[in-house]
Amino acid sequence: MTAPGSTLRIGVFDSGVGGLTVLRALRARLPHAHYLYLGDTARLPYGSKSQATIARYAVESVRFLLEQGAEYLVIACNTASALALPEIRAASPVPVLGVIETGADAALAASRSGDVSILATAATVASLAYSAACAERGLRASEMACPLLVPLVEEGWVAHPVTRDVLRIYLAQSTAAARGDALHPDALVLGCTHYPLLRSEIEALVPRGMAVIDSAAVTAEAVTRALGLVADREPVSTGTLAKPPIRFFATDGAERFKALGSRFLDEPIEAVTLIDLGG
Ligand code: DGL
Repeated sequence: MTAPGSTLRIGVFDSGVGGLTVLRALRARLPHAHYLYLGDTARLPYGSKSQATIARYAVESVRFLLEQGAEYLVIACNTASALALPEIRAASPVPVLGVIETGADAALAASRSGDVSILATAATVASLAYSAACAERGLRASEMACPLLVPLVEEGWVAHPVTRDVLRIYLAQSTAAARGDALHPDALVLGCTHYPLLRSEIEALVPRGMAVIDSAAVTAEAVTRALGLVADREPVSTGTLAKPPIRFFATDGAERFKALGSRFLDEPIEAVTLIDLGG
């Protein structure tokens, strides 16, 4: 028996392994799709780079996924979604979903006060993409750049005293910034692929009643809904059928990708194909 949607190829792109948190949520929801995942590990981090560079890297990356037959693209990287979505869409003949809109949707669902805090990379914050997406939904947003969190997570320092101290400082700065703008946030968006791994640490530090939002699950729901419009191959979970293997691609460090990626995906990664996208 063939599961509906089992021939659908979904390309998931991130600057590194962080987007595997989105892939994990997608696979939980659409287990029978064929997934292609590309982490541009040679050129990470994107979060400290300029818009032009991020757009060039992201377009080169999605072109590769398209060449591999991707029929739907999920830009799991918040930074690429914030700064390069128009360029990616212009380069793609297939539908593209970014994570900023889905994060803002989740914030809208979670916030009662209408005010939200966003934690993200420096480039994402500078783009004000979350603020714009929140404003479109009638929300006010206060954004805080947290540049130390990606390297700490990459280092595996998740439940670590140094990371806890860094989080305390960023959260205090985020609270002060929101107060400065006369906002009363009751939802905190984890606006970077790496932050969901720090979710329980963050939840332990935020005030009671503050909803901590990881947009991975919301993104997976949005993909499911959108696919109903893309084709008549409606992917559904049939439970008993084997999941097709995921094809992993990276631009550097296959062994590191496997080791670190297995933590983000929450299952072992056996094989990663190294590709060269140029400089
Ligand atoms: N994937 C990036 C994001 O979600 C974080 C890592 C990076 O800076 O490249 O913003």
